Formats: sequence, C-alpha cells, structure tokens
Amino acid sequence: MNRNILFILGAFMFLNACTNNTFEDISEPMENIPDDENVTFEDVRFVFENICQACHSNPPQNGAPMPLVTYDNVRDAVLNRGLLDRISREEGQPGLMPLGGPRLPQETIDLIMQWNEDGLPEN
Ligand code: HEC
Repeated sequence: MNRNILFILGAFMFLNACTNNTFEDISEPMENIPDDENVTFEDVRFVFENICQACHSNPPQNGAPMPLVTYDNVRDAVLNRGLLDRISREEGQPGLMPLGGPRLPQETIDLIMQWNEDGLPEN
C-alpha cells in the first residue's frame, strides 16, 4: 500500500473515533467497579444528570411526571414508577426511556440493574 492510502485510512479512522463517542462519554463500564463493592447512587447518577434530567428536572419539563434529580427521586422511581422496566424496553417499544431514544447502552442498563440488586445504596 502506498503512503497516501495509509494516510487517508489513518485520517478516516481518527475522524471516525471522534464522531462515534455519543454514549462512550456517559457510560461507565461495570468493570470499573470492584466486585466486592456495591454499585452506589454515586456510580449511576451520571445517567440521570446527563440524559434523564433533560425532562425529569425539577420542575419537570416536556410532560415528564416527576423529577429524577435527588437520590430519593430516583430511588422512588425504581421502587414505584417502573424505572427499571422503562429503561429495559426494546428500541422502538412504547414507553422506552429516555423518551425518543436512543436506548441506553446495555452496559449502563446493567449497571443500574446491579445497583438495584445491591439494594439501591446512596453511597
Ligand atoms: C425527552 C423527555 C424525556 C427524557 C429525556 C426522559 N423521560 Fe422519562 N418520561 C418522559 C415523559 C413525557 C413521561 C410520561 C409519559 C410516559 O409515562 O411514558 C416519562 C415517564 C417516565 C417514567 C414513568 C413515570 C410514571 O410514574 O409512570 C419513568 C420511570 C421515566 N420516565 C424514567 C426516565 C429515565 C430513567 C430517563 C433517563 C434514562 C428518562 N425517563 C428520560 C419524558 C422523558
């Protein structure tokens, strides 16, 4: 392969890496959390801050029925408002949150599921 082609390929891969980061910015893989430690609200709050609070702010906007701002808000939504079900629905299924998509990355959903299994600790 000549040098120009290598350069073009390299530039393309670089550009691609830059534009492809929508969700990598906000996903925090579970591998970052040691096995013997619980997932806490501190580990998952970035999801609510970066995604959900576009509507679930306080006061809520765009027809969202409740805020997802504080620990108590989010915990209540998990226990009483079907939050885990809403984020787990398939792409395109009615009621999927975040409303209008895209669905959260699976690793982010898994992290929130693990937080629930760990008993929803605050910190
Ligand atoms: C673009 C605005 C918007 C975003 C972003 C959004 N929501 Fe919603 N959410 C709504 C609206 C509007 C409703 C009410 C309609 C419905 O129940 O589907 C709702 C309803 C809900 C409900 C059901 C509440 C109830 O009492 O029935 C839950 C749970 C929920 N959202 C969680 C989330 C989570 C978690 C996120 C982030 C991952 C999120 N939402 C992001 C607009 C949004």
